Amino acid sequence: MRIDILTLFPGMFEGPFSESILKRATEKKLVEIHVHNIRDYSTDKHRRVDDYPFGGDAGMVMMIEPIYKAIKTLKKERAYDRVIFTTPDGELFDQKMANYFSTLQNIIILCGHYKGIDQRIRDHLIDQEVSIGNYVLTGGELAAAVMTDAIVRLIPGVLHDETSALTDSFQDDLLSPPVYTRPCNFKGWRVPEILLSGDDGKIQQWKLEKAIERTKKRRPDLLDEENTGKD
Ligand code: ADE
Repeated sequence: MRIDILTLFPGMFEGPFSESILKRATEKKLVEIHVHNIRDYSTDKHRRVDDYPFGGDAGMVMMIEPIYKAIKTLKKERAYDRVIFTTPDGELFDQKMANYFSTLQNIIILCGHYKGIDQRIRDHLIDQEVSIGNYVLTGGELAAAVMTDAIVRLIPGVLHDETSALTDSFQDDLLSPPVYTRPCNFKGWRVPEILLSGDDGKIQQWKLEKAIERTKKRRPDLLDEENTGKD
């Protein structure tokens, strides 16, 4: 898979993509992540990428030309399955969307900024608008990093244990059960006896019960019939 990110602040991605699992995934060539500075596509000698809004509101608006040029340049090289725009008024990102995106070959993520971007970009150049939650960030960069992280860890081979993404919270509309490690007794706080029993059937049954119990308590909305996401 290849992910191209268009941003005004490429430096914001240096940390998240150069550590831990994302770093290893890139090194193992399971994913290619390319971060492009929109400013490099500016048609203006001052490398301007924003301008005053028509109709005279406060704040600056991202111009269409540099973004058009950036997307066109990328699309000349390869076909893209999706051009995604990060914005707080987009469709809410969730595990199902992450699963779907992780099956695609090539995607572009355009990070929103400032007051907004010229509406014609949204109308003509974007396939899907995505929000990572009901709060407003200073820009779309952190949203793009969050989405990239959630997508990349689902690509086969990225996680060491192939099954571990499948047992994630949310993957089957259930939160994960509690986990424990040594010591089995810490100051009298004990690991549930059943986990030490060696009876795999019983252990699996216990994990499922705990997952259901936790989901009922913390996220009953996930158990709602109309909210299962299963068609
Ligand atoms: N840009 C600003 N806030 C955002 C959010 N919550 N999700 C996606 N992009 C954003």
